[in-house]
Amino acid sequence: VEDLTPIQDTVDFPVGVAIDSRETTGTAAELLTRHFKQVTSENYMKPEAWYDANGTFTPNPEADTLMRFAQDNDLNVYGHTLVWHSQTPAWFFQNDAGAALTTSERDRSILRNRMRTHIFAVAEHLSDTYGPFGSASNPLSAFDVVNEVVSDGNDNADGLRRSEWFRILGEEFIDLAFTYADEAFNGEYAAAGSDRPITLFINDYNTEQSGKQARLLALVQRMLERGTPVDGVGHQFHVSLSTPVTALEAALSAFEGLGLTQAVTELDVTTGTPVTQAKLVEQGYYYRDAFRIFQDHTDDLFSVTIWGLTDGRSWRNSSGAPLVFTDAFAAKPAYYGIVDAELPA
Ligand code: G3I
Repeated sequence: VEDLTPIQDTVDFPVGVAIDSRETTGTAAELLTRHFKQVTSENYMKPEAWYDANGTFTPNPEADTLMRFAQDNDLNVYGHTLVWHSQTPAWFFQNDAGAALTTSERDRSILRNRMRTHIFAVAEHLSDTYGPFGSASNPLSAFDVVNEVVSDGNDNADGLRRSEWFRILGEEFIDLAFTYADEAFNGEYAAAGSDRPITLFINDYNTEQSGKQARLLALVQRMLERGTPVDGVGHQFHVSLSTPVTALEAALSAFEGLGLTQAVTELDVTTGTPVTQAKLVEQGYYYRDAFRIFQDHTDDLFSVTIWGLTDGRSWRNSSGAPLVFTDAFAAKPAYYGIVDAELPA
């Protein structure tokens, strides 16, 4: 890989990248460990990844490959995600006969137990295998406890997504998820003497847009009033060159002063198509301005994660080369922007 200044050396917060096992060997691994300090499993710590077809808890080998790679290379692991409406087995929301759970007290308690069992099983596996959370051998540092629970539109007063979780349990499901995660990751499976070793996040997208931002802020304020053990707000920041970079600053500022930390959890910046050299340079300036904003927020920034290592591996590549390195592992103008080096004219 190119002999370049590591991205991590140019900022004061941990910089991470979303990966799967393909980035844990060869040149990709070399590039990753040169520039980054943290990893997120792009797909294999999601609810469905922990179960076999019969619904038996069966950790995906990908999750363990990532944990071992982090252990071996002294990287932090940012967990993603415990409770989500997507990539979750259908049986979570069904009774033993396969019928949809209702809002009866009996069914609600089935779903609460299922959520608790799931969260405790993940925590037990990750601590039994790698050591208690907060001990030197365990690289896990954070988890997205709930993902994308806020509604895309403004049609409900509560501002929450009408998911199966919400339909059956109502807003309570969010508090329960944090309570169970706190009991498991920062309680039962934490190292003796450690102090809340796993930082617990609520994560969402479009938080750079005013509507989503306001709905998420209102929810977080209600959670804090209720004493929900939430530690941080995660901003996905899947943006494009037409997203004003000032919107990222506004999003981070909106959640300051709540006593919470924040994370940029899934950053990517599409150029639109066709991808031209001029667009790539513009993207370089965008990454530069974004990272200047992040550096200004170092005090309340837990980490910044880029959602993939190389363009071809991005879920958004068809919208225009959103990441920092090419498929040949070469630094794009985006890299030079991040490290605040000179960009092409
Ligand atoms: O594993 C199967 C493989 O067996 C099969 O051959 C192949 C054929 O399509 O699909 C593979 O699964 C894909 C999986 O990624 C692993 O590559 C799924 O189809 C595909 O839908 C899945 O996409 C992921 C997406 O979440 C699913 O919702 C993306 O990689 C992942 O980047 C994306 O990540 C989400 C975050 O979790 C939450 N925020 C938004 C972000 C983008 O949607």
